[in-house]
Amino acid sequence: MLKGRHLIEPSEFSIDELEEIFGLADSIIQKPEDYSEICKNKLLASLFYEPSTRTKFSFDAAMLRLGGEVIGFSDPNTSSVAKGETLKDTIITISNYVDIVVVRHPQEGTAKLMAKYALVPVINAGDGGHQHPTQTLTDLLTIRHYKKSLNNHCIAVCGDLKFGRTIHSLVKAMHRYQDVKFIFISPEELKIPRYIKDLLEPGSYFETTNLDKVIGKADILYMSRVQRERFVSEYEYLRLKDYFILTPEKMLRAKDDMIVMHPLPRVNEIAEEVDSDKRAVYFHQAKFGMYVRMALIVKLLGLE
Ligand code: CP
Repeated sequence: MLKGRHLIEPSEFSIDELEEIFGLADSIIQKPEDYSEICKNKLLASLFYEPSTRTKFSFDAAMLRLGGEVIGFSDPNTSSVAKGETLKDTIITISNYVDIVVVRHPQEGTAKLMAKYALVPVINAGDGGHQHPTQTLTDLLTIRHYKKSLNNHCIAVCGDLKFGRTIHSLVKAMHRYQDVKFIFISPEELKIPRYIKDLLEPGSYFETTNLDKVIGKADILYMSRVQRERFVSEYEYLRLKDYFILTPEKMLRAKDDMIVMHPLPRVNEIAEEVDSDKRAVYFHQAKFGMYVRMALIVKLLGLE
């Protein structure tokens, strides 16, 4: 039962519950007109304390396409946060006015804190370097579409595995499926955190600093940008930002049916020439993000 639940981490939802969401997303993709008024008279609060293009716009578009309405901010300085209001007081107040809340914040744990005090479902739209569960719903729906199943894949995850919250959420969600292997490709300084590796079976993952050596083994290559906003030292960021750049030459080594995913935004880690490769699915992935968020809103509001 998803009605009334919060979504803070993707692993809070069982595989069956995720499948319910994906099944509804499939139905919405096939017949969006059947859902165009399902959220009539419902209001979503969109609280973005950090910049966003995809997550904010896809949530806004999702609610509007369901016939609901959206209020909120993308600059917290236009709210009483600028006067020093606490997150607790903010969420208690806002959840009096709306039916569902979406929050992105640079501080890890913020969505969980807000969920504790909210009177309505809270969806984590990214909390610092921690988790980004709706990106993971997007990623799983994309993999399910292109690979027909979430089982039996070798997923190569490349880039900033230390700070990349989309990576942390993806690995936590995907390791629950059958016969999923991971290749973690990062500079030494940006390795995947120990607490994520501790979730995995020994032998189900491999770590390397060399993309060329392993790209041929991957069914899915999940690229990510180096997260400038999480670095204390600008010098360190500049030193590491172009460590991996996926080029058409590198793609020659990849399987014909490999797919390249990226949560976006891209900075420089995928050359634009790769965009025309049929295996590059990252812009379609972003579109799936809107449909899966439509399904999530409907489920959490218990409207189906
Ligand atoms: N993938 C993602 O979270 O993108 P935005 O930061 O643009 O929302």
